Formats: sequence, structure tokens, C-alpha cells
Amino acid sequence: DTIYVLNGPNLNLLGLREPEIYGSATLDDIAGDLEDRARDLDLEIDLRQSNHEGHLIDWLHEAQARGAKAVLLNAGAFTHTSLALYDAIRAIKTPVIEVHLSNPHAREEYRHHSYVGMAAKGTIAGFGALSYTLALEAAARL
Ligand code: DQA
Repeated sequence: DTIYVLNGPNLNLLGLREPEIYGSATLDDIAGDLEDRARDLDLEIDLRQSNHEGHLIDWLHEAQARGAKAVLLNAGAFTHTSLALYDAIRAIKTPVIEVHLSNPHAREEYRHHSYVGMAAKGTIAGFGALSYTLALEAAARL
């Protein structure tokens, strides 16, 4: 089974970007951690990043079309703005797990609302790079 791991805007800069909030691990480091854990769980990881909202929507549709077991989605700031992502998650049957490095609820008020969370199966946030591994554990048990 394949798990899609979709990452939104500015997450290509992980490791350099506000490390006091997001940590020093890069997206490649996270991909490596996920690959290691996925091997033990007998799962495949398909990790992607885009700064473009429409790509994330196309990839959600693709996850369903290709029969992915689940999607881990860190939509970055689109989390808080994108009704289109909300609709896309609702439109597919593939379970989507919302992931964040930081805990948006402990941050600015404009990060407290999540369109992704309104449609997701569940959310894992606040554990830095470990959030992704924990979300993979959850996906494996669905
Ligand atoms: C984030 C949290 C969002 O509020 C922010 O816009 C991001 C990263 C996180 O992983 O903590 O880009 O999704």
C-alpha cells in the first residue's frame, strides 16, 4: 500500500525557515525518516511538495484514483484559507490525516481555524518532524 505525503507552500524551505518554530530537519530528512518507518510497516511513501494550491488538489484526486491507503497532508498556510482543499478532501474517500510541525492552536489566532481539519480524519500537530512519523503510524492502522 502507498501513503501519499503532500506538503504545501514554503515547506521546501524546511530546515532554513524559522527553525525556532519548525526545527532544523529538512523535508528530505523527514522523507528519510518516513521511508525507514514505512519499510517496517510494509508501506510505500510518495512524498511531494508544491507551493501551488491546485497541485495539492490534483494530488488528492490522484491519491484516490491510484488507490492510496491514506494521505498525510501538511497544507502549510493553505490550511487556514483553502475552501478548495476542504472540498477536495470531502470529495475523495481516501482518508486524509492533517499534519503540522508546529501546534497552530498555540500560535496566532489566524492559525486557529483549519479548513483541512474540518474535513480530515484526524490531526497530528506540534511534534516537529515527529508529527509525520506519528501520522504514518496512524495511517498504517486505518
Ligand atoms: C504549518 C503551520 C501553518 O500555520 C504554517 O502556515 C505553515 C506550517 C506547520 O507545519 O506547522 O506553513 O503547517
